[in-house]
Amino acid sequence: MKHLVTAGLFGAMIAAGSIMPINANADEMMDNGAVQNRQMLMDGIGGAMGTLGCYLKGQCDLPDPVLRNLANGIAFAAASAPAAFEPQTTGATVKTTATEKVWTDWDDFSGRFPELREAALAVAAVAGDKSAMGAAMGDLGKTCKGCHDTYRSK
Ligand code: HEC
Repeated sequence: MKHLVTAGLFGAMIAAGSIMPINANADEMMDNGAVQNRQMLMDGIGGAMGTLGCYLKGQCDLPDPVLRNLANGIAFAAASAPAAFEPQTTGATVKTTATEKVWTDWDDFSGRFPELREAALAVAAVAGDKSAMGAAMGDLGKTCKGCHDTYRSK
């Protein structure tokens, strides 16, 4: 019986959707997907930073090529970030910390990703040289913080 009621409701939703609301749902799904996509991209960057930090603190020993790949991975993610952030996602219902400024100041915002990329490549270039890496990582960290301070809500 319960199943029949559910099926009936679902049928009614589809019927109503053919008039309009289903479009709103499609927008919400698309926007939620876009938010999750850019968050995964950032999480990948964050994970790589964490592992590089672990090496710098002497908590894990990693071969030079691995360090280089981690830094190059950040550079690669930075290159794909503008496309990931471009959709304005006004219909998203999942939590996002991106503020409206991302899109109202798009040129400044998106222009920071090439800086992020350069800073990550600078880390890759000195992979394995701990003191040079420390300095380059400091610069890289500043690009994260500079953007987050301006474009993320707390
Ligand atoms: C050009 C701007 C910009 C730069 C540079 C940047 N980020 Fe982000 N980052 C953002 C924005 C905007 C969000 C919020 C995304 C959202 O919630 O929709 C974010 C979110 C994140 C998140 C949270 C993701 C989640 O699951 O909610 C992490 C982790 C992160 N960034 C790490 C980093 C690190 C580490 C760096 C530097 C190596 C960095 N970011 C550089 C703009 C930037």
